[in-house]
Amino acid sequence: MYSVVKKVPDVQDIQTVTETHTEEGLSAGFESIIGVSKAIKDTIKTAIKAAATDVIVTLRGESGTGKEVFAKAIHTKSGRKGIFIPVNCAALPESLLETELFGYEAGSFTGADKQGKPGLFEVAKNGTLFLDEIADIPMNMQGKLLRALQEQKVRRIGGTKELDTDVRIITATNRNIEEMVQSGLFREDLYFRINLLPIFVPSLNERQEDIKLLANHFLSNLNIKRHEGAQILCDESYEKLLSHKWKGNVRELKNVIERAAILCDSNIISSEFILFASDISKVMQKQDILGGKTLKLHMENTERGIIKETLKNTTSIRQAALKLGISHVALLNKIKKYNL
Ligand SMILES: Nc1ncnc2c1ncn2[C@@H]1O[C@H](COP(=O)(O)OP(=O)(O)O)[C@@H](O)[C@H]1O
Ligand SMILES: [Mg+2]
Repeated sequence: MYSVVKKVPDVQDIQTVTETHTEEGLSAGFESIIGVSKAIKDTIKTAIKAAATDVIVTLRGESGTGKEVFAKAIHTKSGRKGIFIPVNCAALPESLLETELFGYEAGSFTGADKQGKPGLFEVAKNGTLFLDEIADIPMNMQGKLLRALQEQKVRRIGGTKELDTDVRIITATNRNIEEMVQSGLFREDLYFRINLLPIFVPSLNERQEDIKLLANHFLSNLNIKRHEGAQILCDESYEKLLSHKWKGNVRELKNVIERAAILCDSNIISSEFILFASDISKVMQKQDILGGKTLKLHMENTERGIIKETLKNTTSIRQAALKLGISHVALLNKIKKYNL
């Protein structure tokens, strides 16, 4: 049930949650955000200011730009004692999202845990709840969430007690929520609530200066794991990275670098190993020349066709064998094999 919630929480798992996050750089602060471009520096400045307050922050930006990295950095910088809990709102169906966020009392619905279960608002007490993909929350849940944010209290499903929450809320989305509000897909009141301090994380294409730095950062992280000597990128590889249009932003760059490091045995990664998604589909097409059949089968088909044609154009098996350049016996065997 928990697998859909990113890296997630059960009270007894808090220790594990914290560990997982540390490994992924959760305790990492703003210093873990790599970049020298003005765009990223300005974003960091704003985020540091936001970290000093308790205001709900909403990170806006394309997928893969580093919104979650910023959320973690804000949490770390805020000095809150509790843990950071990311919830991917888009990955959970409405009913599950509700039980995850608010928890439930024993026996409140069929299949419910006997002891009941605390919601993430409770688990994240004194910490930060990161509501990722907030725009994808269904309308009905938007109302319930708004109530929780306004009253700073939650009630477990099937429960009567109002529980105080002391949770910092950070949300994120790559959607145009203004448009969603216009078309009635996102509640305007919730929009105003979460949009007090929007922070726009720039796309990678808007910060060319960071590409080389990020590429080296990902490469050196891999090198640490490889234990086989450092790999570096050649100039042509850098050029290829610089001229690419990064639709998947930093996440895509990370994948490209990891793929290159794996495919390339040498310590200097040449540009042929810098493969983008479009290149991969080309490679796959080439590999698919066999159409799922083995080479043997292709050869047999070809052989059968040639023999059949030759037999049609000759008057005897002996004459056909001569033409094909194989022995009479060999041809007889093949005629039998291919049922000709
Ligand atoms: N400025 C950055 N410095 C280092 N790593 C970054 C940076 N921005 C993004 N990443 C890495 O790129 C990947 C995608 O970032 P993420 O925060 O999940 O993006 P988003 O939430 O916007 O989709 C993660 O592996 C993250 O660690
Ligand atoms: Mg994300």
